[in-house]
Amino acid sequence: MNGNDSWDMYKEYLYVNELLGLTLDVGCMNFAPEYFKEMEPKIQQAFLSMRELEKGEIANPDEKRMVGHYWLRDVSRAPNEEIRQEINDTIEKIKKFVQKVKKGSIVSSKGKLFTRFLLIGIGGSALGPQLLSDALGKAKSSLKAYYFDNTDPDGMDRVMSDLADYLEETMVIVISKSGGTVETCNGMQEIRHCFSEKGIDFTKHVVAVTTTESKLDKEAQKSEWLARFYIWDWVGGRTSIASAVGLLPVALQGIDIDAFINGMRDCDEATRNMQTLKNPAAILALTWNYALEKRGKGNMVVLPYRDKLQLFSRYLQQLVMESLGKEKDLNDNTVHQGITVYGNKGSTDQHAYVQQLLDGVEDSFVTFIEVKKDQRLKPVLVDEDVTSGDYLKAFLEGTRRALKKKGRDSLTIGIEELNPYSMGVLIALFERTVGLYANLINVNAYNQPGVELGKKSANTYIDVHHRVLFCLRENKDKLLTVEEVAKEAGIPQEVEFVYKVLERCCINKLYGVKKEKGKNVFNAKYGLDRGLNDC
Ligand code: PA5
Repeated sequence: MNGNDSWDMYKEYLYVNELLGLTLDVGCMNFAPEYFKEMEPKIQQAFLSMRELEKGEIANPDEKRMVGHYWLRDVSRAPNEEIRQEINDTIEKIKKFVQKVKKGSIVSSKGKLFTRFLLIGIGGSALGPQLLSDALGKAKSSLKAYYFDNTDPDGMDRVMSDLADYLEETMVIVISKSGGTVETCNGMQEIRHCFSEKGIDFTKHVVAVTTTESKLDKEAQKSEWLARFYIWDWVGGRTSIASAVGLLPVALQGIDIDAFINGMRDCDEATRNMQTLKNPAAILALTWNYALEKRGKGNMVVLPYRDKLQLFSRYLQQLVMESLGKEKDLNDNTVHQGITVYGNKGSTDQHAYVQQLLDGVEDSFVTFIEVKKDQRLKPVLVDEDVTSGDYLKAFLEGTRRALKKKGRDSLTIGIEELNPYSMGVLIALFERTVGLYANLINVNAYNQPGVELGKKSANTYIDVHHRVLFCLRENKDKLLTVEEVAKEAGIPQEVEFVYKVLERCCINKLYGVKKEKGKNVFNAKYGLDRGLNDC
């Protein structure tokens, strides 16, 4: 292909939307010329399904729920007045609350201004706020954000050591749609313990974001927490960023939530367009379909060329993989669908896995994300007439061209500058793309049946943990092998978990469990502390 062919291709496949400040270039996806035409009936069907979804049909059939995140940015589209009212009231309540916190009419139990918040949540109840903080967070005049997004005690200790001297001015925001997620409950108990050790009234610092009458809501009501904000069953975790889940923490950081919602709303409008080539989400969804179906590329590598968008690949990883990674399609056929998403940032990743993308196994397509405007106002020259930003652009273009020369697929999304509006545009673009693509492959994008299995097995582990300790306490004068403990505890089928529980207790010196070493690791004997050698 000569330079002119390439330029023609670029022009043919470049989508430009000036209102959104968005460009989408799929000219390096190596499409067959007839591909979009071939797919027209299918994408038209997907548009119709999305239209029904937005009207409030039960689009998540397994959970018998409507899928209403689009209403959060355009309330007039909500299916009834009650929902419209609830959305408006919640946004109003968030704004008033944030204003009072900033003005000091809501203060901590010690009468201090809140200067930081600790957000406790996981998955869709943490990733969105984390992404927006990182991309847009302001250094001054707003609350500094901290996160517990795991049940790792060491991770929590790290955060707590940063917060230890500031607890009197720290707000805690517990976010859980279901209100019963174990990691989040554990985080809440851990921080409550810290407050109580320092003699600070936790209830005057803590805010809940959850659904009405969830376990978390009941706790917040009973203990009269500082505030409660509600989300609804028709908002999915990973698409909850425009609900109180995202808006409350983001507003507390001084980020303009109206601009963010407007960006999402305008992008929603653009991606309702039923003229395929005028709809960036349709172009993207068809591109994904092309990459997977026609080119057999199951991996999407997300490469934002900006440090502040580093978390975007993680955010998309959840949005795409939890939504599309499904065993069954909507007709109950086994399909094992999904797109693997990973990435970090450019140009940093050019010194890591990009080598494989260029020369190695050909299983991926790259999604470059470009922010056209540098935020820095006074450029510094690092070379004659060249800034660091010029180099960042050069590295993006260089990698794009190198991939193209090797016949490897990539697409490029461009936004003018990084601000609340453009973040709204980007996130809404991918939400709609996931929705349309789910229609193309006929899967329910709004459930997550697989993750339940892991939770169930974790509960089994905890049950084994209790039974093992009970068994050791019942046999406190004995030393038992793993198999003996499993048998005595009445769970011979769980012998592997029994072994892991015993080893964990020993290594962490928990509950007085000790072991006497055997000839090999599986011959060791366990019992309660009777002066045995330490593990
Ligand atoms: O997208 C999802 O549904 C999940 O990632 C949830 O957000 C996550 O499991 C947390 O759930 P909850 O908000 O109920 O604590």
